Amino acid sequence: MSCCFQIFRRKGSSSATLLTGIDIDVSEIQNVNIYTYKDLQIATEGFSPANKIGQGGFGAVYKGKLKNGSLVAIKVLSAESKQGVREFLTEIKVISSIEHENLVKLEGCCVENNHRILVYGYLENNSLAQTLIGARHSSIQFSWHVRRNICIGVARGLAFLHEEVRPHIIHRDIKASNVLLDKDLQPKISDFGLAKLIPPNLTHISTRVAGTAGYLAPEYAIRNQVTRKSDVYSFGVLLLEIVSGRPNTNRRLPVEEQYLLTRAWDLYESGEAETLVDAFLDGDFNIEEAVRFCKVGLLCTQDSPQLRPSMSAVLDMLLGEKDVNKENVTKPGMIFEFVEAKSVGKQKSKAEVDGTTLLAEGKQEESSSSGTVSSFATMTFTAIYDRSN
Ligand SMILES: Nc1ncnc2c1ncn2[C@@H]1O[C@H](COP(=O)(O)OP(=O)(O)OP(=O)(O)O)[C@@H](O)[C@H]1O
Ligand SMILES: [Mg+2]
Repeated sequence: MSCCFQIFRRKGSSSATLLTGIDIDVSEIQNVNIYTYKDLQIATEGFSPANKIGQGGFGAVYKGKLKNGSLVAIKVLSAESKQGVREFLTEIKVISSIEHENLVKLEGCCVENNHRILVYGYLENNSLAQTLIGARHSSIQFSWHVRRNICIGVARGLAFLHEEVRPHIIHRDIKASNVLLDKDLQPKISDFGLAKLIPPNLTHISTRVAGTAGYLAPEYAIRNQVTRKSDVYSFGVLLLEIVSGRPNTNRRLPVEEQYLLTRAWDLYESGEAETLVDAFLDGDFNIEEAVRFCKVGLLCTQDSPQLRPSMSAVLDMLLGEKDVNKENVTKPGMIFEFVEAKSVGKQKSKAEVDGTTLLAEGKQEESSSSGTVSSFATMTFTAIYDRSN
């Protein structure tokens, strides 16, 4: 019974809520704050729409202010994302034990009744998706120095998850909206370990999604092969986005420029990689470094996972401690369209066009009409569409 009591004991608080019937030893998750639903209601003014700062595949995110005055981002996992208290807390224990300067810190959670809520430290400068890669509503000046620092920080965070955390963690959803910036523009990767918080029977994790179309490695999208090298691929796409300041897909551009990877490859092959660098910088960047970053992006996005470097090698190359000139780079693997994996299974039409993997089949409406397709796939499609418009 004392275990039950501990589950809802908030750190530093004498008040407690009892969860009956759950017998969990929470002694090992003492570095996690356990909040009551009421705490979080107060922090977000009743989860008011005014405090809503985002909506992702896992649920809505609210900005909140805790009683101690600290600002937090409160992620309310959607109904479909709920799992048992035991499983939830087991994963929370793992996620909260991971700390690194380039990873968003999980401050705590709420597991009251049906609620599954994650509480993260609040990052002042939003995500790369809403600033650099987005519609440029942001006032942040992304100089070359800032971009370089962001790329290196994200590489550090990912190398840590891949190579230092035991057992290693594959992020599965490296993308611009999962890179948040603190007040000093230091990057922090968010949502690592989240895939494990979702019950495995939910198709959106095991099939489509813990990934987003333009960032998905071909082997992940087509065969659902998730490895550290599929994260490396997503990192490569993100790296090229940061250097170029544009999203991986932009349908408003002339056809030959719509896909960032194709564009990067063409420019690299013709010896003009520096042309990919954001024109916004007006030439104010280190050409040698920028070309090196482009080449690293291309090394990461090669079609064959085996040819992609590890994240620690990527980090060394970005830092100039490993010579990229010695590295041979092959054409990127690319998916031009992505269909939710369930419908892919039924109606997949895969073809090799000009040596590039092409998967272009099925419309969104068709996917949705199968009745088994999760709404997450649609949301992600929308997110990409929005960004390119
Ligand atoms: N710790 C945080 N601090 C500040 N803002 C955050 C934080 N976490 C999330 N956000 C904001 O909430 C938005 C939604 O985040 P969320 O992770 O739910 O969705 P997403 O990353 O856009 O998509 P997906 O669910 O597919 O990963 C983010 O884009 C970001 O703007
Ligand atoms: Mg996210």
